[in-house]
Order: sequence, then C-alpha cells, then structure tokens
Amino acid sequence: MMAAYSLSILMNSKLFTTLLFCLSICSLSYLNAQNRIGTGEVNELYQQLCAACHGKDLEGGLGLSLLDDEWKHGSSDEALTMSIKNGFPELGMVAYGSTLSDNQIRSLVIYIKERRQQILTEKTAEKLKPQGGIFKTEKHDYKLEKIGEADGILWSIDFMPDNRMLVTQRDGVLWVFDHYGNKTRIAGTPNVWQHGQGGLMEAKLHPDYEENGWIYLGYSENIGAEERGRDAGMTAIVRGRIENNRWVEQESIFHVPGEFHTSAGVHFGTRFVFQDGYLFFPIGDRGRQDQAQDISRPNGKVHRIYDDGRIPEDNPFFNEPNAYKTIWTFGNRNPQGLDAHPITGELWSTEHGPRGGDEANWIRRGRNYGWPVITYGMNYNGTPITDMTHMVGMEQPLHYWLPSIAVCGIEFYTGNQFDGWTNDLFVAGLASQELHRMRIENNELIEHEIVLKNEGRIRDITTGPDGTIYVLLTSRSPKFGEIYKMVPSS
Ligand code: HEC
Repeated sequence: MMAAYSLSILMNSKLFTTLLFCLSICSLSYLNAQNRIGTGEVNELYQQLCAACHGKDLEGGLGLSLLDDEWKHGSSDEALTMSIKNGFPELGMVAYGSTLSDNQIRSLVIYIKERRQQILTEKTAEKLKPQGGIFKTEKHDYKLEKIGEADGILWSIDFMPDNRMLVTQRDGVLWVFDHYGNKTRIAGTPNVWQHGQGGLMEAKLHPDYEENGWIYLGYSENIGAEERGRDAGMTAIVRGRIENNRWVEQESIFHVPGEFHTSAGVHFGTRFVFQDGYLFFPIGDRGRQDQAQDISRPNGKVHRIYDDGRIPEDNPFFNEPNAYKTIWTFGNRNPQGLDAHPITGELWSTEHGPRGGDEANWIRRGRNYGWPVITYGMNYNGTPITDMTHMVGMEQPLHYWLPSIAVCGIEFYTGNQFDGWTNDLFVAGLASQELHRMRIENNELIEHEIVLKNEGRIRDITTGPDGTIYVLLTSRSPKFGEIYKMVPSS
C-alpha cells in the first residue's frame, strides 16, 4: 500500500520522469563519459550528452530550456560552468566535472550562450528589415543609397580632398570612384600576394595629403619566396603618389624579413591610423597563434612606426634584445579595425577572434591582449582552445561578441548628418552582415545596437565629407563589391 502510494506520487511527479530518464540516458552518457569524451566538437558533445534532456536545440524537455530567460542557477559564465561541473544529481543531471575537461565545459558554455544570442539576433534582424526603403534604429531612420560597384571584394575606402573615393579591391586593384559610380583604375600599384584573406587591403591618405600627396597602401607580399623555395608572405606597407592615374614615386615604409613570412593565407590585419607623426597598424597572427605571444615576431601585434617608416626609439620593446622593435602591443589575434577616438585620441581596435571571441579593445602601449592564452572563444570547428578568459597581466576586451560577427573595419562617426551618433563607434561585421553602433564612455560600453543587417558582408565604413556614412559591402555570391551611403531619411 505504502509502496503503491509513493509510486503513484512518483509517477505524477516530474522528478520521476527525470529519474527514469536519468537511469536510461544518464547511465548511457555516463558510460560514454567513462571512456572520456575525446576531443569532441562541441555540437557533437552537446547532442551526445545534453540534448536528450535539454532538447536538440536547447529548447528544453526533461531538463530545463537553456534558451528562455529563466535561469534557476544563474546565467553568468561562472554559474553555467558550475551547473555543468556539479550537475544536479538529485534532480537527474549528473556532474560532468570529472568526465569532461575544463576546456570542454568551457566550450559547452560558449555553445549555450552562442545559441541564445543567435535567437535574439534573429529577432533583431526582423525589426531591422527596411520598410519602404527606410531603416529604423533607436536614434535615426536612414536610407541606403548606392554609389558604385566593382567586380571584386572591396576592402577599404578613404576620401580624397576633391570628395572622390579611394577604394581598394582585394585582388590588387586600386580604384578612384566618383559619386556617379564612375571608376578609374590606378595603374602601376604594387604586386600583391593574392592568397586566402591576403591581397590589397588598406589605402589611406596621409593627414597632410594636400601638402605632400602621400597615399599609403597595406597589402600582402611574398617577395623573395622563390629564392627561399617556399611560398610564404607577410603584410607590407608602401607609400606613393597618384599622378595622371598612375602610382608613382613609391617608397618602402614597412617590410618584414623573409624568415618571418608564413605560408598561411589568413590573418594579415592592416588598417592605418595616423597620429602625431606616427603610423599605427596591426598584423594578425598569420595562422600561427602561439607566435602572438612571442615579441621577437611581428605577427599577432599592433605596430607603431613614424609615418616615414623609421622606428621610434621609445617603442615599448625597442631596447629588449631580440624583440621586433616596431611592436606597440601583442597577443592580438587578427585586428582588422583600428581608429582613434575623435576627442580622447585613444586607439581602439576590433579583433577578429575565434568562434565566440571577436573583441573590441582599447589599444595601449606595451599591453598584452592575451591571445591565445586567454580568449572568450573556441575553435571554429567547435573544439575548445582554453577555459581561461582572464589572466593577470593580460587585457580584458571592452566587449566580446558571442556569437562572433566576424568583426572588420571600424569608424568613430564624426559627421554632421546624424546628431545622435556623434563620436559613436561603428563596427562592421562580415559573416553576420551587421553594422553595430557602440557608445563608449570612460572605457565602458553604454549603448550598443545593430543598425544594419543582412544587406551583405560589411568590410569597411567611413564618415564622408558630406557627413553621411559610407559602407563597403560584399554580396555573398557572386562576390560583388558595392559602395553605399547611409543618409538620414527625414
Ligand atoms: C538526464 C537529464 C539531463 C542531462 C543529460 C543533462 N541535464 Fe542539465 N539539467 C537537468 C535538469 C533536470 C536540470 C534542472 C535542475 C533544476 O531544476 O534545478 C538541469 C539543469 C541544467 C543547467 C542549469 C539551468 C538553469 O536554469 O540554471 C544547465 C546550465 C545545464 N543543465 C546544462 C547541461 C549540459 C551542458 C548538459 C550536458 C553536458 C546537461 N545539462 C545534461 C537534466 C539534465
């Protein structure tokens, strides 16, 4: 009688279902876990261990939904980690702390947060769909006007004094566009190493262009590869002038000796910021992540040189034997956005991270930005990198994007057409096809919204002389480059 009674209570309780389930599923996953869950990819890990209770898409089932906004045991990274590590054995979830490594648990936390944010972003995308050609955001409504296009990936845009636009195309073409969409190819620009993400990247006018005529180009080169018998390359910088649509009087500004070139086709960095006679620019880790911490190498760093190419003797590692003397900061994975705050002059970068690890950073002299020792991300294939997100002596990002948006160019807006956006940081996203607006005050992010979504991959943005915002887009396929400007709609 007693037994039957308690059984019926049990039968009616959720707890019982969970328990029954646990007996079958948990023991299965436990057995698996006993064999140690290899180096598994995170989705596989989740599907194998967690989906039975929390749902294939985290929507819940016998276990709680991991998508709704209700967290019984806390939503911080630490709380999620503890939930997975310790489990809730009396409620049916085993502790995974002894069977999964810290790195694997970290990748599960990233996975859960990534999926939650993806769903939020899908809602944002719905809200941002233009109506009658008008995009609505928190502070301004705007329209997109097409300015020009080219049959390739457009990488950077800058304005000439006559308001024409200097635009790079990654496969090595330097264009000058007018506002009617007519474009002129500049002949005689340097040969670029077209390799993966490499090619012709940054083009920028010197701040005193009207006096000196200098234009700077950042690109990937593989000079000397043949003699070395190995196709490897690195980021390089030259300056030159344009006369009668020809690139002339070229001077070398920054070249890396062949011994430091790598064969990888990824993470070349390069954006330019001119400030007080200096030129700042990043080089990504070139696919050799551990070298980002090695200050004897140029990759995975932000650099500072004089704008004529000389190396400042007060650079932070100038006097260290074996150091690469142009280094300004290190531990940077692949910064592809760099700009100076219009009022404070502070240098800001966006760093293209691993999955879940895109960052916005305040770039300060001699600092270590942590890659790959600390990161908020995991490998693109879902395998963990590390469970460490903090370490003494390493900088924390102002913000990290989870999921990654594939951050690229950035710009502090200084125009006069969008009053509510003055000095805000605009951040371009490639894979996400997003443009983010962020307001930073005292190194804190106080506003953050997406202002453009799903119109194409965004590689660069800049404030135009007319006070509007210019964006470079690439349609997914066929790969077509387009220049648009955002103009106020009322
Ligand atoms: C046998 C079922 C089962 C499995 C398998 C399982 N869980 Fe759970 N999990 C639960 C239950 C039940 C709870 C709710 C405990 C409660 O109600 O307090 C829970 C709670 C959680 C929480 C806390 C949720 C909150 O609201 O605070 C997290 C996070 C979590 N699980 C993650 C995971 C992950 C990750 C896995 C796979 C490694 C996993 N669980 C595997 C049953 C399961």
